[in-house]
Amino acid sequence: MYRIGEEEVEEVRKVLLSGHLFRVGEGVEGHLHEVDRFEREWAQLIGTEYALCMAGGGTAALICGLVGMGIGPGDEVIVPGYTWMATATSVLAVGAIPVIAEVDETLALDPEDVRRKITPNTRAIIPVHMVGRPANMQALLEIAREHGLMVLEDCCQADGGSYRGKRLGSWGDAGAFSFNYFKIISCGEGGALTTSDRTLYERALVFHDGGAAFRPYAKELGIPVFVGIQLRADEVMGAILRVQLRRLDGILSDLRRIRKRFEQELSDAGLRIAPSNDPEGDCGVVVAFQFDSEAQARAFAGETGGWLPIDSGKHVYSNWEPLLQKRIMHHPDMNPFNHPRNQGLRTDYTPDMCPRTLDILQRTVFLSLHPDWSEEEVSRRIEVCRKAVKEAVAV
Ligand SMILES: Cc1ncc(COP(=O)(O)O)c(C=O)c1O
Repeated sequence: MYRIGEEEVEEVRKVLLSGHLFRVGEGVEGHLHEVDRFEREWAQLIGTEYALCMAGGGTAALICGLVGMGIGPGDEVIVPGYTWMATATSVLAVGAIPVIAEVDETLALDPEDVRRKITPNTRAIIPVHMVGRPANMQALLEIAREHGLMVLEDCCQADGGSYRGKRLGSWGDAGAFSFNYFKIISCGEGGALTTSDRTLYERALVFHDGGAAFRPYAKELGIPVFVGIQLRADEVMGAILRVQLRRLDGILSDLRRIRKRFEQELSDAGLRIAPSNDPEGDCGVVVAFQFDSEAQARAFAGETGGWLPIDSGKHVYSNWEPLLQKRIMHHPDMNPFNHPRNQGLRTDYTPDMCPRTLDILQRTVFLSLHPDWSEEEVSRRIEVCRKAVKEAVAV
């Protein structure tokens, strides 16, 4: 979260004083319908027919997306080795098996490795737009079409970003967003699913609402109501998110302007900018540099306050210990690795299974940017980079 202030306070105040904090409130006098309104506004912004806001964060949105796609035991889903573990564990949550693939120099899922990892059991791909950087959606969608696979975009670190002029989360069959505290916009925790597929939406809607059978919308569903879990958003979330949404494009344009300044003003400094699948659509959360060696990357990061993605630990597949050791769920019969339909699927995880990913992550340096830096602050930081690169390449 980059910006928050009096506007959010005022909208939350209105919700609290209305006395209606539960999102369900058809015909209830004084109900502000903040979640309903946020969902309509988010769908419109992303460019999809539907948006479903929920508690439980981006993790819940990923799970709802997979539920919506009808993914389950017997299915393999390809995820990148550089992402937050929830991308992979959401697959396990629906009983399916995550297959971990390499990222390429853009830090996103490598289409060629996806191709290599497809088996007759593959049902879906989850491209992740890590640190606001769009994945290669064109190549990935082509592969998905060729093999009849579903595509669930993990947009959790890229709220509002785009690819080729269209927002992330509108390219695949569905998109999952996070609004947790560390994301571009936030209500503390929470997430959203976007899709234009009615059946996918209905399955996700029913799954996320433990009371689905008793809602007025149940009569309009084209699918039978089944028993899901409880992930409904509340009106306080909705109110905060509606203000955050209004801030989003301003945050993105400031981040992008600052990233461009770094890239343009350092273009003659001997730094290699990490290739991007869409520099215009990139959210500008970070500026990314690549070096020939880890030693050079560490020397540069040490001087500039940058960080190596390999050091983020939890976002690197080789550290996903409970997953690699197949310790899933609270009961052995609910562990997807024990499910009869998952026997014979690709579950041969090892910490060195994606060597290219590990190599790229240890030669990359991210500088985190802030949209509220003054022009002078940006100039000062650019000068620090200019000096640091000379020392780094000498290592
Ligand atoms: C790439 C990615 N996917 C999924 C998630 C899960 O989001 P949440 O923490 O809101 O459940 C995150 C959050 O850190 C993330 O960065």
